[in-house]
Amino acid sequence: MTKRVYLETIGCQMNVLDSELIASSLVQAGYELVDSPRNADTILYNTCSVRQHAEDKIYSALGRLRPLKERKPQTIIGVLGCMAQKDQELIFRRAGHVDLVIGPGQLSRLPEILEEVASQRHREPRLEVSLDRMKERRALVEESFAKFDPPRPPELRSSPFQAMVRIMFGCDKFCTYCIVPKVRGPEQSRPAAEIVSEIRCLAADGCQEVTLLGQTVNSYEDPSKGQTQRLSDLLARLHDIEGLRRIKFVTNYPRHMTDDLLQAVRDLPKVSPYLHVPAQSGSNEQLKRMKRGYTVEYYREMIERIRSIIPGAAITSDFIVGFCGETEEDFQQSVDLVRWARFKNSFIFKYSERPGTKAAGTLPDDVPDEVKRRRNNDLLAVQNAISLEDTLPLVGKDLEVLVEGPSKAAKKRASVGNEIVQLVGRSVWDHIVVFDGPRALVGQILPVRIEKADAFTLFGTMPRLKG
Ligand code: SAH
Ligand code: SF4
Ligand code: F3S
Repeated sequence: MTKRVYLETIGCQMNVLDSELIASSLVQAGYELVDSPRNADTILYNTCSVRQHAEDKIYSALGRLRPLKERKPQTIIGVLGCMAQKDQELIFRRAGHVDLVIGPGQLSRLPEILEEVASQRHREPRLEVSLDRMKERRALVEESFAKFDPPRPPELRSSPFQAMVRIMFGCDKFCTYCIVPKVRGPEQSRPAAEIVSEIRCLAADGCQEVTLLGQTVNSYEDPSKGQTQRLSDLLARLHDIEGLRRIKFVTNYPRHMTDDLLQAVRDLPKVSPYLHVPAQSGSNEQLKRMKRGYTVEYYREMIERIRSIIPGAAITSDFIVGFCGETEEDFQQSVDLVRWARFKNSFIFKYSERPGTKAAGTLPDDVPDEVKRRRNNDLLAVQNAISLEDTLPLVGKDLEVLVEGPSKAAKKRASVGNEIVQLVGRSVWDHIVVFDGPRALVGQILPVRIEKADAFTLFGTMPRLKG
């Protein structure tokens, strides 16, 4: 049996991490990763359900595979991840040529399931998903979302110098618009000892930077109830790991932005002063409908607390525009919040109704699409102007940058050895910095002189390379 697998990922960093883990377990099981469905015997999509658009993309990609499946019926086509958990059998009904549907809680068994499916003479559609948390007892549901964080060799990570590490599964917040608690299951923190030992191994392998992942990462609580309990304690333990140089964490929930965490970020030099704390809206009426659990007054006070404890921190946010019942006045309050908070960056999304959420069942999706689009553009313009005002003063300064790799443009051009290429790196505040330098600098932390800036990217030169 040939074993060539094509794996495509959409969705958040949690999905990117899962795909890395899947790829690594498949390579260890003897698969070869290929870069086009045409060259593969197994085609897998790791999917996202957070907005309709993400699902549409996958259903159209599946549609395009129909002729290939007719020509090569032995090809295994699998849908993995969040949309698998959400749509389940519906995927077989909408795309009859799909062989497997596997939820995020079953990914650890993927190599074994693929073996079984490949060896069957008459293939039956195979559905492997977790229990519905609305219908079963919590302990059973938790168990059905099996943990999946196997060790992986550095060559199977997207970069040997950086790694994402999951510290929490699932989410218990149930914001009314959001599908994540349903598809990712109940919130469960990983034992601190397990996280520390995983990161020790990564650092020993040369990893410089870890990004800790959780849907509400700052509500981390060690389930083993040892000495390390909160995220701030975990950060302090990780800080002691030799060889590790930078620690980041996403995504923060505003309600849990406690002083001990902010003090840890201030006092531990390896922890980046970069905080992603999505506000979602600047209107109390909307925050209540979203069931976010805070008021805009609380959110502003929290931003002030961050700025006073960690001067110079980079704060970023997410906003949803056109959520149910959003008036022009509600929207203006989001604009006011962006202007006032001066986020380094914000991701802005048009509300997309998700079947199975509280909002979809109880609140009409009543803001017309063209209004959502206009509000999206308007808020983005306000944010981008602020981002640019923030980056321009960096021109002429030196920023410490962790070199991540060649830029997209440089990757396209074939290059050899250690020639000068366009490199991309990141500052501790999460600025993207583009500059020319020898390829061998990848993985190093070094100063780059900023020469030019736009809202999202800084362009620089290496001081040593300048004439
Ligand atoms: N756990 C994180 C991220 C959740 S998903 C958090 O709580 O912030 C990432 C972002 O997608 C959210 O912050 C929200 O802004 C957006 N989002 C979630 N559901 C959405 C929906 N139904 N429509 C539009 N945007 C949505
Ligand atoms: Fe979704 Fe809210 Fe959980 Fe974030 S905190 S994943 S927005 S339910
Ligand atoms: Fe999407 Fe699942 Fe992440 S729904 S945003 S891939 S947790």
